[in-house]
Amino acid sequence: MYTFQIPHLGAQRPEVAVQRISGEKLDLISLANYNYLGYSYHPEVLQAAKDALDIYGLGATGSPVLNGTFRLHQLLEQKIIEFFDMPGYGVSLFSSGYGANIGVVSAYAHKGDIVVLDRLSHASLVDGAILSQATIKLFKHNDYEHLDRVLNRLDYKNTRILVCTEGVYSADGDTGHVADIVRVSKKYGATVLVDEAHSLLIAGEHGRGVSEEQGVLDEVDMIIATFSKSFGGVGGCLYAREDLTNYVNWYARSRMFSCALDPAVTGGLIKALELAGGPDGQAKRERIRSNADYLRARLKDKVDIGDSHSWIIPVIYGDEHLTIPLSDYLQRQGVDASLMSFPAVPKNQSRIRLFVTSEHNQDQLDRGADIILQAAEKFGFLLDK
Ligand SMILES: Cc1ncc(COP(=O)(O)O)c(C=O)c1O
Repeated sequence: MYTFQIPHLGAQRPEVAVQRISGEKLDLISLANYNYLGYSYHPEVLQAAKDALDIYGLGATGSPVLNGTFRLHQLLEQKIIEFFDMPGYGVSLFSSGYGANIGVVSAYAHKGDIVVLDRLSHASLVDGAILSQATIKLFKHNDYEHLDRVLNRLDYKNTRILVCTEGVYSADGDTGHVADIVRVSKKYGATVLVDEAHSLLIAGEHGRGVSEEQGVLDEVDMIIATFSKSFGGVGGCLYAREDLTNYVNWYARSRMFSCALDPAVTGGLIKALELAGGPDGQAKRERIRSNADYLRARLKDKVDIGDSHSWIIPVIYGDEHLTIPLSDYLQRQGVDASLMSFPAVPKNQSRIRLFVTSEHNQDQLDRGADIILQAAEKFGFLLDK
């Protein structure tokens, strides 16, 4: 029955092979990974990673502030700066997205300051806020009027305030109300951080995220990117004004006291970004959107898919007691899906999260949808007509 941490036997493609604890091998349609644009196995990305491996070796073997910074890391920073195309901005690299959030939030906010989080914030933002020892305030998910009331009650003229939101929320697939949150936050002189983990390279005309899509990229103070999703690698960064990234380079403990990004991944990330910034990225952005619309249309009105507007589609089945048998059933029928239940989501809101990529074809999406709908019938979460 045990379906979590199941070893995958190859790259995160639309179809994957896994091996269960029993030794049994299964071939599955993957709707479970964040390899949104398929760059983790793109031949040019792999070649760039191999080239970097040959030159720089396996690991950076040093903290970025001591001896772990390579020419390649500087090149990645430069590419990210060019991708956003905003003068005066810089990049601070981290070896994970989690590390970027805990490092940036705890470097920027300290005891006596205030971190204001969306109630559905990712654990890495929450942990960064806890580590910072600042006072933590929450606002209702995406509710800028509530945020306004929260900020209005604070001593905002004399306190450093950091407001955090996300581009796309990974449990619900809904989009952050970034423009409204920026507008309200600026009224109170607060700094705004947008975690674009699930939206960079995908949302916005040029793939610069939901902040671009909502026309507020130049008003957002800090953009967090993770390289583990649409980039297909691992790592993360802060993109912000250069004085801020310089400061974070020296004061983020998760950067200072952790090894720099590994060279092969860094080489691959540079190539993925180059591709994403050109026609390849443009075509993939169009495909991922039409694939997500297609799968949503197949599931909508038959199962509860919440308020998904993105490439993440939750199918809410509710009762957490179903999680293990449902997950077992989905694997046996041929779908690799990501199930989430309490405490990752509130009680009775357990869900199958489906991650759509630009690389799925219609047949794979159809087979995936058919299995989800069969499961809904069997486990009793098909919506009444
Ligand atoms: C919104 C968000 N931020 C940060 C992270 C952490 O990123 P990483 O897995 O690259 O450490 C995740 C990971 O799922 C995430 O969903």
